[in-house]
Amino acid sequence: MATDWIQKQVQDLKDQNLYNNILTIESAIGPEIQIEGKKLLNFCSNNYLGLANNPEMKKTAIEAIEKYGIGPGAVRTIAGTMTLHRELEEKLAKFKKAEAVITFQTGFVANLAVIPALVGEGDLIFSDELNHASIIDGCRLSKAEVVRFAHANANDLEDKLKAAPKDVKKLVITDGVFSMDGDIAPLDKIYEVSSKYGAMLMVDDAHGEGVLGNSGRGIVDHFELHGKVDIEVGTMSKAFGVMGGLAAGKKEVIEWLSQRGRPFLFSSAMTIPDVAACIAAVGLLEKSENLVKKLWENADYLRAGLKKLGFDTGISISPIIPVMLGENKLAQDMSRELFAEGLFAKAIVYPTVPQGKARIRVMNSAGHSKEQLDQALKIFEKVGKKMNVI
Ligand SMILES: Cc1ncc(COP(=O)(O)O)c(C=O)c1O
Repeated sequence: MATDWIQKQVQDLKDQNLYNNILTIESAIGPEIQIEGKKLLNFCSNNYLGLANNPEMKKTAIEAIEKYGIGPGAVRTIAGTMTLHRELEEKLAKFKKAEAVITFQTGFVANLAVIPALVGEGDLIFSDELNHASIIDGCRLSKAEVVRFAHANANDLEDKLKAAPKDVKKLVITDGVFSMDGDIAPLDKIYEVSSKYGAMLMVDDAHGEGVLGNSGRGIVDHFELHGKVDIEVGTMSKAFGVMGGLAAGKKEVIEWLSQRGRPFLFSSAMTIPDVAACIAAVGLLEKSENLVKKLWENADYLRAGLKKLGFDTGISISPIIPVMLGENKLAQDMSRELFAEGLFAKAIVYPTVPQGKARIRVMNSAGHSKEQLDQALKIFEKVGKKMNVI
C-alpha cells in the first residue's frame, strides 16, 4: 500500500525511544491528576496558576454559554464578531498596557498569523536558534529569509543585523521564556539592538503570560518596554488555564493583523466558553498578584531542592525546570520510574530538544502545596539514586 512507509517510520521511532506515548488523563487538570486509575502528582501541565479548573472561571463560562451559546458560527471577518470577543480584547489590552489586542484560536495559530503578515519574500527574519516550533513554521510560511542568531545573544544578533543590507525590511523574533530550558530572553538588550538597526521586534511570550511582570502582565511589562516592542504574541492556553492566542501592540499593527492575518481571515474565532473564561482569568489577575507570587515561590523552592539533591537544572530561572539527562532512553526510563512512584513529569526528547539533550521537564504551578513539593523532591531523590543520576 502507498502508506506502508508510515508503519516502518513509527517502528523506527519506537526503536529509538522517540515514540511519544500519549497518556489519557481521567480527571480535571490540577496539582494532582488521575491516569490509568492512579492518582499522581502533576508536574507536567502548563497550568502555571492552577486556573484550568477554577470555579469562578467555570461559572463565567457556563453563564456565557447560557447567554451566547457555544460556537462563534463562522470567521469574524465574514460573519461578524461577538461582544464577548471585543470585551476580551479590550480587557487584555488594558491589562497588558498595550494600545490594542487581537485574539486568535491558539498561540501556535497566532504565530502563523502574525509573522507572514509582517514579512514576506525578500525580507529578513532574525530568529533566536531556540525559538518555538510555531515561530519556525510562521517564518517558513512567510517566505522571508531566516537568519538564526545564537540563543539569547544580543551581541550575535547585532553582528547579524550589521551584516545585513540596510534597505531590507527586518523582523527580530524571540521567545520570552524558553519553553524547554526555562531561561528568559534578554529583551531589553534585544530591543536596543533591534531599534538601532531599524528592525521590527516581536516576542512570543507564551510562557511569560500570567507568569512574568506585574501580576502576570508578561515579559514586556517585566522589562518595562511598553510601546517599544512592536508585537507581543501570547497564549491563554497556559497560565490562563484556557485556550486561545493573542497579539498585542500598536493600534495600526493590530488593525493590519485583522486585515492580513490569514488564520483570522480564514478560520473561526475562539469559542464562547473559552472567551468568557479568559475574561474571568484577566479579572482574577487584575484583582490579586497572589497566584503569580505563589507560582514563583513554588518554582524557586523546587529548583533549589532539585539542585541540592544533585540534579542538573540547566539554565532555568523560571517555573520551567528541566532535569538534564542527555540520552533519550535515560529520560524515558526516568519518566516511567517517576510515574511508578506517583509523579507525572514527561521526558522531552529529540526532535523537541537537540539529540543528547533529553530531559525531564518539571512544570510548576501555584496550585501545588508545600507538602506536594516535598513529596515530589522525595520521589526525585529515590528515582535519581536508583538510576544513578545523582
Ligand atoms: C513559545 C510558544 N509559543 C506558542 C505555543 C503554542 O501555544 P498554544 O498551545 O496556545 O497553541 C507554545 C506552546 O507550547 C509555546 O511554548
